[in-house]
Amino acid sequence: MKRFRRLRTNGQLRQLVRETRLDCRELIYPIFVAEGEKIKAPVDSMPGVFQYSTDMLEEILTEIARSGIPGILIFGIPKHKDEQASSAYDDNGVTQQAVRYIKAAYPDMLIIVDVCLCEYTSHGHCGVVRNGKILNDETLPLLCRMSVSLAQAGADIIAPSDMMDGRVSAIRAALDKNGYTDTPIMSYSAKFASGYYSPFRDAAQSCPQFGNRKTYQMDCSNGREALREIADDIDEGADIVMVKPALAYLDIVRSARERFDLPIAAYNVSGEYSMVKAAAQMGWIDEKRIVMENLTAIKRAGADIIITYHALDAAKWLKESEE
Ligand code: PBG
Ligand code: ZN
Repeated sequence: MKRFRRLRTNGQLRQLVRETRLDCRELIYPIFVAEGEKIKAPVDSMPGVFQYSTDMLEEILTEIARSGIPGILIFGIPKHKDEQASSAYDDNGVTQQAVRYIKAAYPDMLIIVDVCLCEYTSHGHCGVVRNGKILNDETLPLLCRMSVSLAQAGADIIAPSDMMDGRVSAIRAALDKNGYTDTPIMSYSAKFASGYYSPFRDAAQSCPQFGNRKTYQMDCSNGREALREIADDIDEGADIVMVKPALAYLDIVRSARERFDLPIAAYNVSGEYSMVKAAAQMGWIDEKRIVMENLTAIKRAGADIIITYHALDAAKWLKESEE
């Protein structure tokens, strides 16, 4: 008789035949850097997540460096916002300063920067707005300036998240022209217009002041279109492609894994994080178990890189299980 249970008899056997293993070296931890001083402000909608000013980053960065997590994804929160997102490409902007500080203090840490205008625009949209429309081609030069400025500050990977068409090739050309031929682009290729971003918009103060993001982010119903977006970003020169959010879109991660051979990142976004935290605080779920199950599912679907607010906890739990 076929007995699947034979290989489940004890822990050693289960370990032996385990198909998917998490590793802290494939996790990326997102960080919010606010302009100002002496800021460590809890994000109400994301328990355990804080905004830090650059002078307050040391504690968390040291923890990350010790955890075995190789890198961070930085979101800057400027004081000054305007229609042209000028703080986004100011060489002395909050994000540039944070990158310069981290690069100097933690030279081995991979610094990925989220490139998008929404944290820097007064209207909160990811592109230039005219007559209530979010303009594509007018946005590209600003994204290019932002990317070059951040590469110059020391960013290791440029991660455009705006969902404008043609931005990967525009940014690639701008980086190359300015001598950053070796700076990779991790493109948020299949980024869906998702309700799962709400806690993030509190954290990054980037909520659109009118309308929504549905004219640029993808319709959550469209799986085939996601693959076309990914294929196009690869054509345009992306080095890593991303699917976002992760858990409700694991079918996309899987299809992308089967179709494309370059590294795939999945972003376990704020709403996915906060739902777990809230249920855990209520005592309804076992946080560690759920987090490890979720991250394993993302990896099993085919992700090589997982961006997650759970990264520090997960790294700690992975260490414990080694002991
Ligand atoms: C900026 C950006 C967003 C996220 C990452 N980059 C928000 C958005 O598109 O509204 C979401 C991250 C998260 O929810 O954790 N465009
Ligand atoms: Zn944006």
